[in-house]
Amino acid sequence: MAKVRFHDNNEYITAPEEVSKFLQSQEIIYEHWGVDRLDANLRDNYNLTDEEKQQILDAFRPEIEDISKRRGYLTADIVVLSDQTPNLDELLVKFKAEHHHTDDECRFCVDGHGIFAIKGKDGRYFDVEMEPGDLISVPSYSRHYFTLMDDRKIKAIRLFVTPAGWEAIY
Ligand SMILES: [Fe+2]
Repeated sequence: MAKVRFHDNNEYITAPEEVSKFLQSQEIIYEHWGVDRLDANLRDNYNLTDEEKQQILDAFRPEIEDISKRRGYLTADIVVLSDQTPNLDELLVKFKAEHHHTDDECRFCVDGHGIFAIKGKDGRYFDVEMEPGDLISVPSYSRHYFTLMDDRKIKAIRLFVTPAGWEAIY
């Protein structure tokens, strides 16, 4: 389950119902799809072939279709970041630059962890710490940035309307 951490006082929200309630108040979609359905290779492997990426997408097809219908997403793909990614440190510097998008930014964490740091409605910044099985959608025009956690890896499904809609506006 995702956790929320406030930047100003380092306080956490960890109780699942409280996390859901807080994210809802920020108009952030939060769902937990789980990853039990994936075999170990698809979870652990960070050098996925196109066929294996498709197997992951197929495993979550019902959920992807459902949220895509609700949110108008047209495309889903897989993104992988790990120490095997060339220039990971440079990429992380780029991801840490605050920005927004004209569409919402929807990510499902298949493995590893990720943090979306988001400027809340009251201007207060908080992290959403994602773990495997978590989905969040950062609302359009919401200022945010992304970073990894100590394991320095994430494998995620990206859902989007058009590539233009998730272009970063700094
Ligand atoms: Fe973004």
